[in-house]
Amino acid sequence: MSPAAGPEVVLEGVGKRFGTITALRDVSLRAAPGEAVAVTGRSGSGKSTLLALIGGLDQPDAGRILIDGRAVWTERHDARTRRELVGFVFQRHLLLETLSARANVEVPLIGAGMNHRARRRRALELLADVGLAERAEHVPAALSGGERQRVAVARALANEPRLLLADEPTGALDTATSETVLDLIFQLRDQRGMTLVIVSYDEAVSVRADRTISLLDGALATAPA
Ligand SMILES: Nc1ncnc2c1ncn2[C@@H]1O[C@H](COP(=O)(O)OP(=O)(O)O)[C@@H](O)[C@H]1O
Ligand SMILES: [Mg+2]
Repeated sequence: MSPAAGPEVVLEGVGKRFGTITALRDVSLRAAPGEAVAVTGRSGSGKSTLLALIGGLDQPDAGRILIDGRAVWTERHDARTRRELVGFVFQRHLLLETLSARANVEVPLIGAGMNHRARRRRALELLADVGLAERAEHVPAALSGGERQRVAVARALANEPRLLLADEPTGALDTATSETVLDLIFQLRDQRGMTLVIVSYDEAVSVRADRTISLLDGALATAPA
């Protein structure tokens, strides 16, 4: 697979409120193409909101977000653009419990113009990439926590996203398993040249990232580089 060059991600004075709560205030930052940016900050500091806005799951009510110089998420909402650009990994793996690992990885490929055989082949390749070739036909309940999270990573990569957004991807895992999953995420990012924004409390993430930013009550606590 050819490495997809990750996009530049720029936030300019981004703000987001939920009623009376200010989740983000005046956040400006830039992730260079292929850069891995770690986002830290205590619970409620706005990390998940930041990721949701970058990924176009929600819209800022101040400022703008530019992906490769284009205000993609504030222009006409385009689900196809999002599907092809962004992959998400969450703390909870959010796999469908009745489907095999393979079928879970196929889900985002439905509607991507691929026939059943091509989807199946692609899902098996992705599972091999995350070291789960032997576990493809297992349902989530038959997999370990780390394996489930690796399936979630494979699923996030199904549409070859150029931008990977991970929200506490190891938050529910023990230390050793976390290391494995982080190694995998950073390896895949190196191989594919993706831009990565990864939220975590885990020091191990900051060590691997090119840069760490910290949020405090919705504002940047460190100056952007
Ligand atoms: N959909 C929502 N509705 C209301 N309040 C929200 C919503 N999402 C987040 N918040 C609030 O915004 C603040 C930031 O939340 P969040 O981004 O989830 O923080 P973090 O991920 O750092 O824990 C919190 O006070 C949270 O309660
Ligand atoms: Mg959060």
